[in-house]
Amino acid sequence: MRHSVPPLNDKSLLKSQAYINGEWVNAKSGKSFEVTDPSSGAVIGTMPEMDASDIDLAIKAAADAFPSFRKTTGREKGKMLRKWYDLMMENADDIAKLITWENGKPLTDAKGEVSYAANFFEWFSEEAPRVYGDTIPATVPGNRVFTVKEPVGVCGLITPWNFPAAMITRKIGPALAAGCTVVAKSPGETPFTAAALAELAHRAGIPKGVINIVTALQNTPEVGEAITSSSTIRKVSFTGSTNVGKLLMKQSASTLKKLSFELGGNAPFIVFDDADLNVAVAGAIACKFRSSGQTCVCANRIYVQQGIYDEFCKAFAEKVKTFKVGSGYEEGVTHGPLIHDRAISKVEQHVRDAESQGGKVLVGGQKMPDLGSNYFQPTVIRDMTSKMQLASEETFGPVAGVFFFSTEKDVVAMANDTEVGLAGYFFSKDIQRCYRVAEALEVGMVGVNTGLISDPAAPFGGVKHSGFGREGSKYGIEEYLTMKMVTMGGMGQELQG
Ligand code: SIN
Repeated sequence: MRHSVPPLNDKSLLKSQAYINGEWVNAKSGKSFEVTDPSSGAVIGTMPEMDASDIDLAIKAAADAFPSFRKTTGREKGKMLRKWYDLMMENADDIAKLITWENGKPLTDAKGEVSYAANFFEWFSEEAPRVYGDTIPATVPGNRVFTVKEPVGVCGLITPWNFPAAMITRKIGPALAAGCTVVAKSPGETPFTAAALAELAHRAGIPKGVINIVTALQNTPEVGEAITSSSTIRKVSFTGSTNVGKLLMKQSASTLKKLSFELGGNAPFIVFDDADLNVAVAGAIACKFRSSGQTCVCANRIYVQQGIYDEFCKAFAEKVKTFKVGSGYEEGVTHGPLIHDRAISKVEQHVRDAESQGGKVLVGGQKMPDLGSNYFQPTVIRDMTSKMQLASEETFGPVAGVFFFSTEKDVVAMANDTEVGLAGYFFSKDIQRCYRVAEALEVGMVGVNTGLISDPAAPFGGVKHSGFGREGSKYGIEEYLTMKMVTMGGMGQELQG
């Protein structure tokens, strides 16, 4: 379905080139790829289809900029990030329009993402001047030992399409605060938001070569390999699937890079009998259907205890019936399209598989061809079992499967029965249970009586096959720093004279 795309207030934010060494450039090959609006299928524009030779130029620019940028004081780096933050907020409406255009999420959600994304710049503008080392009492008499934290060097950043602004700011913010320079590969599906952010970085006076944004769609594997195998790049931060993370890790082995990976999840969302039903339903709606289920921390397996099961399923499905699905630009729309047809196929497969094994669809369950080929009805299925595909695979779409459980012990065992461990949620009013279950869940992040945990001040990351490293918070900057220890000998002499 066609809809009108509101024009940008500042049309110069719509860039169709990559950004290398402070300049807007095409691919050396002259090739480009098309970016489509997931709502209508219409072409938004084109971006350079870069290959390894273009990435080498970006890596060189970042390497050339590093010696001078690493000497920039924390205060100065903080001011640059703050200026970038201010420009993002001044241009929030335009950036939100770009996000909705290329990602499909409703404009109100896109505005929320702009402020979430900008907050990483604000947060790390404040961390930049606070990178401290230690003074250590030495064992050897006369020695003086201290540590300094140094930027790791040139960083390669690879980000996904589900948060076109926030995933990139969450990596560039701490990288710059630490004094690193970066080569960031923007997502092939959503490169225009990243390009607009690069334009704002330019306006914020961030020196040339410090930030380089490279683009590719078909060549993404080649670009990933160029980044991971480069001996100039010292660190790679990646957000995406577990399978791609494993490949990037292998490719990074020969150059022993520092890595931080935020990979796939399969979040358990547990509602105990003693939970506040309204709070749990509201939490499940926010957690499962944020970005139409296309986040790594969305509830994937909703476990509800026997005493509250029927009531929860009914109230949850009733709420889902109030959603309005459509183009993200349309007034009142709460949920937009999925990103592409592969996402639709997976979601549909999970629904059909659940139905074929006895799952009952309470609402939704079908594609929405009248709206467009990337639309799927927000869906709630009850009577889920552990044999169904949705129990072991991340759906990454608007399908909520509700499972039944009897005891705390059973549900924690089911929740942990997966290779991944990103986020987990549970709802209970029993304070002792809250501690017990939070400690027992094998995940990197736990939401207790809330379905929304994302916050630039809080460490974001997983365990098991969900990766390692933390983003945001006071810990996020550590991923971009190395520690140098200095021992000074012969320092314990008597006073002279
Ligand atoms: C993600 O889906 O990887 C990130 C979600 C978030 O930051 O909340």
